[in-house]
Amino acid sequence: MRLQDQVAIVTGGAQGIGGATARRLAEEGASVLIADIDGDAAEKNAARIRDAGGRVTTLIVDVTRPDDLRTMVDTAVQQFGKLSILVNNAYGGSQRGQRGGATEVTEEAWEYGMAIMLKSIFLGAKYAVPEMQRAGGGSIVNISSVHGLLTAPGKLVYETGKSAIIGMTKQMACEFGPLGIRVNAICPGHIVTERMQARQWANNPEGIHFFEQQYPVRRVGRPIDIANAIVFLCSDEASFITGHALPVDGGLTIQLQEDLGVRLAHWILEHPQTQLPY
Ligand SMILES: NC(=O)c1ccc[n+]([C@@H]2O[C@H](COP(=O)([O-])OP(=O)(O)OC[C@H]3O[C@@H](n4cnc5c(N)ncnc54)[C@H](O)[C@@H]3O)[C@@H](O)[C@H]2O)c1
Repeated sequence: MRLQDQVAIVTGGAQGIGGATARRLAEEGASVLIADIDGDAAEKNAARIRDAGGRVTTLIVDVTRPDDLRTMVDTAVQQFGKLSILVNNAYGGSQRGQRGGATEVTEEAWEYGMAIMLKSIFLGAKYAVPEMQRAGGGSIVNISSVHGLLTAPGKLVYETGKSAIIGMTKQMACEFGPLGIRVNAICPGHIVTERMQARQWANNPEGIHFFEQQYPVRRVGRPIDIANAIVFLCSDEASFITGHALPVDGGLTIQLQEDLGVRLAHWILEHPQTQLPY
């Protein structure tokens, strides 16, 4: 086991990428605190981990609330004796009217987006780093996105938050490296989570094939793809890796766009029945 005796917090660890991450960290021997706004879903994921022999506890946490973040760190230490891993993964923004560019987005939506994506990482570190120091070191993994590397119209809040996560990751890596704490980010491509499947693909199963064509590996991602990368970054195998933003995206962001555009145009002509996702 690669994370024996480690203690991890996964925000948004009830389902999706965070859910798979909590399960993989536990499989590798870490004790895990699932910190999620959805207590029922968190308990369901915890039951899966316990059934598989893992050590886990849950806490209802809203990462936009500073007091919840402090309680989250305190609870992990009280329950498991220390803290050595923090995965900043929680996100739930599209229902808050964050879609749009600068002329559409409201100040409220902007502030919520910055709170859930950025302030949560700042305050998470404020409370977690002293505990990691006491534990003799640690690892922080921040979940950014391919949207942190490249941008799209209609997504001012998300693109700004996810690219700033990469900047914060580098700054914190410089700051905390001397303390034995590594900080990295992951930039996932399209990952078909339970929610993504229900929201985007359940009524359009053919549409996923259009998405798959955009990836050099000709598939989209699964939560386990990201969870495996997080386990690696938290393990001793990655002890010389800090401050990086690792794309886990099937090669999506390394393609020449001219080539991609022409290839997709051909694919659409050959599959005229396909309903395009958006
Ligand atoms: N799924 C993708 O295609 C994809 C791609 C790139 C990046 N990401 C990033 O990966 C992370 C996880 O995404 P996902 O697709 O697994 O999402 P998801 O919606 O499947 O799961 C998100 C989890 O976060 C929890 N959550 C939401 N708001 C919260 C809050 N304020 N406090 C605490 N918990 C909260 C939810 O209850 C849920 O359990 C996000 O940061 C997202 O931006 C996802």
